[in-house]
Amino acid sequence: MLAELSPALIAEVQRAAKLLASKQRICILTGAGISAESGIPTFRDKQTGLWENYVAEDLATPDAFARDPKLVWSWYQWRRQLVADKAPNPAHDALAQWQYHAQSSNQQLTLITQNVDDLHEQAGSTVIHLHGNLWSNRCSQCETPYQGQPSQGQSRGSYNSEDSINFDEGLISCSHCGGYVRPDIVWFGESLPVQAWQTAEESAANCEVFICIGTSSLVYPAAGLAQLAKQNGAKIIEINPDPTPNSIIDITLAEKAGMVMPLLIQKITAL
Ligand code: OAD
Repeated sequence: MLAELSPALIAEVQRAAKLLASKQRICILTGAGISAESGIPTFRDKQTGLWENYVAEDLATPDAFARDPKLVWSWYQWRRQLVADKAPNPAHDALAQWQYHAQSSNQQLTLITQNVDDLHEQAGSTVIHLHGNLWSNRCSQCETPYQGQPSQGQSRGSYNSEDSINFDEGLISCSHCGGYVRPDIVWFGESLPVQAWQTAEESAANCEVFICIGTSSLVYPAAGLAQLAKQNGAKIIEINPDPTPNSIIDITLAEKAGMVMPLLIQKITAL
């Protein structure tokens, strides 16, 4: 792996590792890019297959669900099947290893994700989800959590592969009020879960280093966490192969997270 990283990048990884090893309060925000190497497309990737004529922003909204609930439900069933057989990659694993290591050192690591997949948990991390969980459902009217049959999508185990996509799968009605069941995910224009957001804000405002991994930094309020950290004196590290509008970065590691994170964590834990 080392052979594939340039000497300049390895030097930047070393600089980041030194900074991180010398600090106690670290806040980490991950986005879709960290799951890209597990085979889950990011939101800025073009949709594929049956969904190539749609953009995520037109499907992940309350208005879209009100207009065409079956379309939005089908898209999420497809996304669930896409994610069901995916596994954590070396970036998720490295973060979990760092969190484990931090328990015996003086470091306090808060891991926050915008992702609705569960690859951080599968890798062994404790993580705060800002945008909900792909495997949960609730009523779109009365908000009652839906705990239905496994085939109706309340657990990762009920989805096997893309081959079993069933676009005719009907909408489910809430047994309390008759409203349609929807994914328990934060859509565009909706508020973030109060407790998760409060913890994220506190962690960003109090951290000494804030790390953005695999996020385009385009979607607020999550994108504002790095700014909050910076305003309170934190250093900012970004891990992303492509440039982002984030202009407050102190150290950029411009490479795929799965390439950079194992080396970064190896260096931090060795220091
Ligand atoms: P985006 O799809 O907006 O951005 C993904 C970022 O990951 C891009 O900046 C890529 O350059 C970067 N990237 C791609 N491959 C990578 C890799 N292997 N390693 C590191 N970085 C890589 O995803 P998010 O920023 O997570 O919201 O999007 C934020 C929110 O907008 C999502 O949570 C979702 C979305 O629409 C909701 O669904 C509410």
